[in-house]
Amino acid sequence: MRFDIITIFPEIFQGALGSGILRRAALAGLVEIRVVNLRDFAADKHRSVDDRPYGGGEGMVFTPGPLFAAVEYCRGPVKTPESRVVLMTPQGRTWSQQFAESFSKLPHVVLICGRYEGIDQRVIDSLVEEEISIGDYVLTGGEIPALAVLDSVIRLLPGALGNSDSAVNESFSSGALDFPQYTRPAEFRGMAVPEVLLSGDHARIREWRRQQAEARTGSRRPDLAAGTRAGEA
Ligand code: ADE
Repeated sequence: MRFDIITIFPEIFQGALGSGILRRAALAGLVEIRVVNLRDFAADKHRSVDDRPYGGGEGMVFTPGPLFAAVEYCRGPVKTPESRVVLMTPQGRTWSQQFAESFSKLPHVVLICGRYEGIDQRVIDSLVEEEISIGDYVLTGGEIPALAVLDSVIRLLPGALGNSDSAVNESFSSGALDFPQYTRPAEFRGMAVPEVLLSGDHARIREWRRQQAEARTGSRRPDLAAGTRAGEA
């Protein structure tokens, strides 16, 4: 799978993509990630990529020229079914585990990270196929949302996680939150690990975990318990 990220802050991605599972997935050839600096596609010597909004108002808007050039560089001059062009924006559809699962099957995704007050609507109308939000809060730009998308998709690629079971037996893919986990020591500052987990009785442990996950899901996320997760509607 291939990702292209269009941003004015390429340095934001270096730490996250150079660490842990994302780094390992890239080294193993499961994913190829290219971070593209939008300013490289500016036409003037100041490398400007934004301007004041027509009609007035606060802030700056990304101009169409550099974004058209950058997207066409990433996916070629014409739209193809091979490439999905995505804009990270609070106006988008809410990202979810199901959304991540569907993206993990695509060959090529181009992520545009918005900034300031937004991007020229003509870019959205002619190039953007999907607008994605990571939640109902406003960040200073699309870079952190793009990292959330990258991370949640890459860990689903076959071979990305050490234990292939870990991606299927967890929160959200099963429709429930996770059960609580404990490790050594069996007692810490007077707090004991639940006896069942030390029992060695795997059937009892499985049942205890199922009950814990169900109780948590019911109390913390009644929407999940009712099967109305974001993205399912
Ligand atoms: N850009 C700013 N806030 C965002 C959000 N919540 N999701 C996606 N992109 C954003």
